[in-house]
Amino acid sequence: MSPTPGPRRVAVRAPATSANLGPGFDCLGLALDLWSDVIAVPVSDSSNAATDDDNLVVRAARRVYDGVGASFPGFHIDSTNRIPFSRGLGSSAAAIVSGALLANRSLGDPLGETDLLDLATEMEGHPDNVVPCLLGGVRAVALDAQDRVLQAAVPMPRPLVAAVFIPEVHVPTELARAALPTSVSFSDALFNVSRAALLVAALASGDYPLLRAGTGDRLHQPYRAPLFPAMTRLIEAALSAGALGAYSSGAGSSILALCPGRAEAETVCAAFNCAATRCQVPGSTLTVGLSPVGAHVVDDG
Ligand code: HSE
Repeated sequence: MSPTPGPRRVAVRAPATSANLGPGFDCLGLALDLWSDVIAVPVSDSSNAATDDDNLVVRAARRVYDGVGASFPGFHIDSTNRIPFSRGLGSSAAAIVSGALLANRSLGDPLGETDLLDLATEMEGHPDNVVPCLLGGVRAVALDAQDRVLQAAVPMPRPLVAAVFIPEVHVPTELARAALPTSVSFSDALFNVSRAALLVAALASGDYPLLRAGTGDRLHQPYRAPLFPAMTRLIEAALSAGALGAYSSGAGSSILALCPGRAEAETVCAAFNCAATRCQVPGSTLTVGLSPVGAHVVDDG
């Protein structure tokens, strides 16, 4: 298939995301109001195009073109990335989703939402960042027997604000996944299933005091803590300062605390800073809302 003449320029925005939310390893994620912007111009002169396959935006765009049988033109890419890299805040999911969205729009949107979710998940390896990145909000996700994405929105009656500690040190996802055991005890599995269920029910019902128990985890954080030893003390500091719940975001290294409002999130950020100073862990803090909307095309002139 030869590409249909598409827009001359496509601009997309994709949000940061936080996966796991404590107990929901690979199956819960949320979108944050912190955005990566990508502007892409398809070019026919490949000598001027970004075709670097190490660039995730370009790789995802190429996958869309390949998937619909169109020849890949290459793109001039101009990006403003506000999402810290390799800190458990979904920077790679944002890049993949941005590339897929801009390529799809350039081709006249041949792929639907489920196709884009499947393609992005296959590239990312797990769905808990790409689903909230593309669709926004808090999402429960799973893969079916054919590795197709199943997902549902977790409604929230009242908004929450995230306080985030972003350490200078990063933890590569591959390292964080390699730290996990090959099997866990029945009691630890039960612990996490019950917390994940409680977490989703607490969010959906607005019974936010249950988030403290609902963000408990025994499947991944205890095994990953040696990669970022301040993890436990930062989580404890956030909870002591009034966070509703706190956890290691995605594969780490960021710590995210769910708070009822901005003032409480600022207090938690101050507690993060004190704890980080005591643990001698340099980093920065961020107060950010959750985003009900996901990645979208902002301009396709
Ligand atoms: N659920 C994944 C993990 C997220 O914890 O490894 C990685 O971004």
